[in-house]
Amino acid sequence: MTDILTRLPQPKPGIMDIHAYVGGKSKIEGVAEPIKLSSNENALGCSALALAAYDEARAKLFRYPDGLASPLRSAVAAYHDLEPERLIFGNGSDEVFGMLNQTYLQPGDNIVTGEFGFLAYRISAQACQSEVRLAPEPELRVEIPRILELVDDRTRIVYISNPANPTGTWNTPEEIAYLRSELDPSVILVIDEAYAEFADEPTWETSFGLARAHDNIVVTRTFSKIHGLAGLRVGFGYAPIGMIEAMERMRMPFNINLPAQYAAAAALQDQAHIDASRQQVLNWRPRLIQEIRALGYRVERSAGNFLLIHFDSEQVASDANDHLMREGILIRWVKNYGLPQALRVTVGKDDENRAFLEALARFKA
Ligand SMILES: Cc1ncc(COP(=O)(O)O)c(C=O)c1O
Repeated sequence: MTDILTRLPQPKPGIMDIHAYVGGKSKIEGVAEPIKLSSNENALGCSALALAAYDEARAKLFRYPDGLASPLRSAVAAYHDLEPERLIFGNGSDEVFGMLNQTYLQPGDNIVTGEFGFLAYRISAQACQSEVRLAPEPELRVEIPRILELVDDRTRIVYISNPANPTGTWNTPEEIAYLRSELDPSVILVIDEAYAEFADEPTWETSFGLARAHDNIVVTRTFSKIHGLAGLRVGFGYAPIGMIEAMERMRMPFNINLPAQYAAAAALQDQAHIDASRQQVLNWRPRLIQEIRALGYRVERSAGNFLLIHFDSEQVASDANDHLMREGILIRWVKNYGLPQALRVTVGKDDENRAFLEALARFKA
């Protein structure tokens, strides 16, 4: 019997140690249309131009998509003023992290990221039988010296999300430049800028310029947040040519599907929708902070389209989460990020934000 069991297919070492990713909840039992503020999606949805382009793609669904996502590549390069040949597209930026890990990590290597860093970096690193090293974030913010303390000669990639999810904190351009200057040129520094468009802090800056100037920096962006296309799964990395050439060997041939390519390229033409999406967050973020604080909860400034609310204990956070669900509101209990006393709420539409504030006001710990 034992013999038969050990002869069944066995995952490679490390796979069963991976905590499978659990996304934000999207359903509440008995509530037909919950208010969903659990996944940092775009409250305004996607652009009408993106929808029209998606519809146009219907007639072409029998065709394979452009393997290099050429029209989308040109559109992204023009919009962000980047060299098209330095871009790699992924099925969400998640897939770009996966391709980086698969291309550069060997068993026994390690990646370094912040304690509360985005979970997707870790999953494929563990699948490569690499170690994940987490630098403490005592102030809920990535501290560069703490990152550097963990870097050794088996470190291949350092991941920083800037702004960071779920904390909403960010690192300054000086900090990022210092981190780069302290890393061996063989170590890749990935700056994940999924929430870039919502960062209006004077001490935040994109790292595209830094990446252009160095041979070991990758900046990632996504169409899931500001462009409201999370369901289509499109992200990209801006990387040195040598890295693109290596990663292109790992990329599956048609990883960005045809409607996604159409809709994402069209989304970049709709500056009015981009501006409105950003403005929705910039208008509501300070207002939500003020009102949540007035209810007696600690909530920090955030450079993303979400806020992290702290409760007195894990139990109270869990009770608040249950209470909000009973009121038909889904937000994210970030226990699996190592923050069991906190809930993360995405900035929603006007009426959704008001409903959330009213429901939170009714919560009694
Ligand atoms: C920090 C961070 N990076 C990347 C992503 C994933 O983006 P994508 O939808 O492009 O895979 C998210 C999504 O929540 C995120 O919070």
